[in-house]
Amino acid sequence: MKVLGIESSCDETAAAVVADGRVILGSVIWSQVAIHAPFGGVVPEIASRNHLCSIVPVVSQALDQAGVTLADIDGLSVTIGPGLIGSLLVGVQFAKGLALATGLPLVGVNHLEGHVMAAFLVNDREPPRYPFVALAVSGGHTSLYLMHAPGRITLMGRTRDDAAGEAFDKAAAVLGLPYPGGVAIDRVSAGRDPGTVRFPRSMISDGFDMSFSGLKTALRRHLELMDHKPSADEVADIAAAFQEAVVDVLVSKTSNAARLHGVQDVVIAGGVAANRRLRARMAEAMTRDGRTLHAVPIALCTDNAAMIAGLGHTYLFGDLKDADAPRGIDMDPFVRRVDDGW
Ligand code: KG4
Ligand code: ZN
Repeated sequence: MKVLGIESSCDETAAAVVADGRVILGSVIWSQVAIHAPFGGVVPEIASRNHLCSIVPVVSQALDQAGVTLADIDGLSVTIGPGLIGSLLVGVQFAKGLALATGLPLVGVNHLEGHVMAAFLVNDREPPRYPFVALAVSGGHTSLYLMHAPGRITLMGRTRDDAAGEAFDKAAAVLGLPYPGGVAIDRVSAGRDPGTVRFPRSMISDGFDMSFSGLKTALRRHLELMDHKPSADEVADIAAAFQEAVVDVLVSKTSNAARLHGVQDVVIAGGVAANRRLRARMAEAMTRDGRTLHAVPIALCTDNAAMIAGLGHTYLFGDLKDADAPRGIDMDPFVRRVDDGW
């Protein structure tokens, strides 16, 4: 069964064809990063206008890459949220139009569930086994989930303020590093000693909620108290120290969550899961605890449509084919499938 997935929740227009929920036949991502870079963040109105221009060529390129036409597709899947409303609407309306024109079944899926389920796309290792703990860490969300079974999900904790990716992006802006900041901080921190500055690790001991906005303030204060403009070397050390503080919180919360529920498998997903230091430290912690880490492959961490097509397969033809999910051209793009914080 081949599913065409469509993703337009933020600033990436993406389409992918996935076979049997696991094998990526074609995946195209058109990023608007360069368009939003001068503003230091995504401008919603500009994002939706660009989705409008790119959605048709991106979908046809994904079909071409997969070597198929619409006649070979068995179902359609589209991100219905969370995300920027104008951006989401472009993907959702396009998918509805395609469903109407082709008669193909259509399902609306959750973007964060998509990030987590990217761990099931074929890569060089076995997929995670339920129950597992998942850390979904992106520009908009930082949440820990207990994944009991397909479609059965409990939110364990989430950030009470900034998402980790947002914290990286804001910190990079303050440090004069380019947008998107997470990537820049990852790059300049490589090989640096993260111990030259000690930033606070907030809410590290209680529960599974997290907080990153105090860390951002601590960074700003640190720069204000310096009696000179930091050199490139100093910026790299400060970035590494900042990254370490974020990573410490994420690793500690995830390890505690896995321990509490005694799960064997742990998934890290979302844009920030591409961070090399997070991947290394999380792998180290999981090995220490005798657990198996499934870090989503770097290319599938940031927004893509393969994860949406893979998840769509589960709802259309797989384990969740009878589950209650927004379907067809009448579906409301803003319904929440589960009310536990997706
Ligand atoms: O999942 P994603 O592509 O979009 C959202 O759903 O938000 O995540 C984007 C976020 C941005 O904040 C970006 O700075 C961050 O992921 N990011 C990284 C890295 N690559 C992307 N953060 C840290 N290290 C990275 N290597
Ligand atoms: Zn995302």
